[in-house]
Amino acid sequence: MKNILITGGAGFIGSHVVRLFVNKYKDYNIVNLDNLTYAGNLANLRDIENSGNYTFIKGDITNGDFIQQLFTERNFDGVIHLAAESHVDRSISNPMEFIMTNIVGTVNLLNASLSSWKSNCEGKRFYHISTDEVYGSLGAEGKFIESTPYDPRSPYSASKASSDHLVRAYNHTFGLPVVISNCSNNYGPYQFPEKLIPLFIHNIRNMKPLPVYGKGENIRDWLYVEDHAQAIDLLFHKGTIGETYNIGGNNEWKNIDLIIKLCEIMDQKLNRQPGESAKLITYVKDRAGHDLRYAIDASKIKGELGWEPTVKFTEGFESTVEWYLNNENWLNAVTSGEYQNYYEKQYVSR
Ligand code: NAD
Ligand code: DAU
Repeated sequence: MKNILITGGAGFIGSHVVRLFVNKYKDYNIVNLDNLTYAGNLANLRDIENSGNYTFIKGDITNGDFIQQLFTERNFDGVIHLAAESHVDRSISNPMEFIMTNIVGTVNLLNASLSSWKSNCEGKRFYHISTDEVYGSLGAEGKFIESTPYDPRSPYSASKASSDHLVRAYNHTFGLPVVISNCSNNYGPYQFPEKLIPLFIHNIRNMKPLPVYGKGENIRDWLYVEDHAQAIDLLFHKGTIGETYNIGGNNEWKNIDLIIKLCEIMDQKLNRQPGESAKLITYVKDRAGHDLRYAIDASKIKGELGWEPTVKFTEGFESTVEWYLNNENWLNAVTSGEYQNYYEKQYVSR
């Protein structure tokens, strides 16, 4: 049996990674360590929570003593590190939590891995999940490659860039066996409705305004979350130690075009007149420091390991909309309580 630690497994991407690993690798003990912040939700994992090879531990990666003790007790063979504060808007209103979880939390995990593996790193692996936002913002042309210089521009991306540098430093200085990947925007089931796609599905369903930042001209490269999980599986097992891999959907959309497409799908699914949902589009004050465009060149992972996206955007997007409409209880549960305060603060005065 191998003992694998997945951090942030109750979040959006983490829950898809945990599900994949628990179902696919019956000879692994999968430990999901998550502090269950507003973004962590055990309802994301109901279907696998009773599996014999799965354990959930509630804990905070910013607590160094706790992390050290956990590694001593559990003897992990590998770490897949997804736990993070992940929403750019929240990093603008409250940067400190991003510094603590994304930087200090990552260093706690690096230190614990190092002391646990120092006598023998053979077969061990620390896999750090990062974002394309560390590379900064693109103009109309070009794509990010793995050697694009870092140029993070929000507290979120600066905290992720810092954690990437620290992971590389622990490899270079101490020989810790690490792999890093930087991925573009994910979409799919179980994403917290503060992010563009689930937020707008929720608002359209409830006939609420759709707050488009600025002119809606920013561009993102969208990847179906299960394709990301497949790439993570591949890189965890076959990625070269010390290397970084870009992961992307080769699927760029201007925000406003994506939103209009979403409105069309929602009109059909909700039996509304064509154009009814689009009437909810409301242009609001732009996000501070809003990056214009991200685009990923994922030819390295394709060339070395044969990975490429398998889910066509038109299909993945429609099935994602259906998932949120069919899982009203999930959406209602996560948008009750504290979510209302967040929404008021973030949007009402914009
Ligand atoms: P998410 O916000 O949905 O989930 C993050 C999880 O981490 C939550 O379950 C939360 O409870 C947990 N967590 C937060 N702070 C913690 C702490 N101090 N201790 C323990 N657990 C804690 O995030 P996501 O969208 O699933 O992103 C996962 C990872 O992937 C992040 O590292 C993010 O930077 C990266 N990423 C996300 C995207 C995307 O489009 N969502 C794209 C590229 C990379
Ligand atoms: O690129 C990868 C990153 O993608 C991840 O590292 C982040 O964790 C993830 O949150 C995501 O960041 P973005 O800022 O691109 O995602 P978000 O869904 O917040 O916004 C997508 C675009 O939509 C962005 O240009 C801002 C815009 N937007 C977003 C919201 C929430 C709006 O116009 N209105 C909104 O209300």
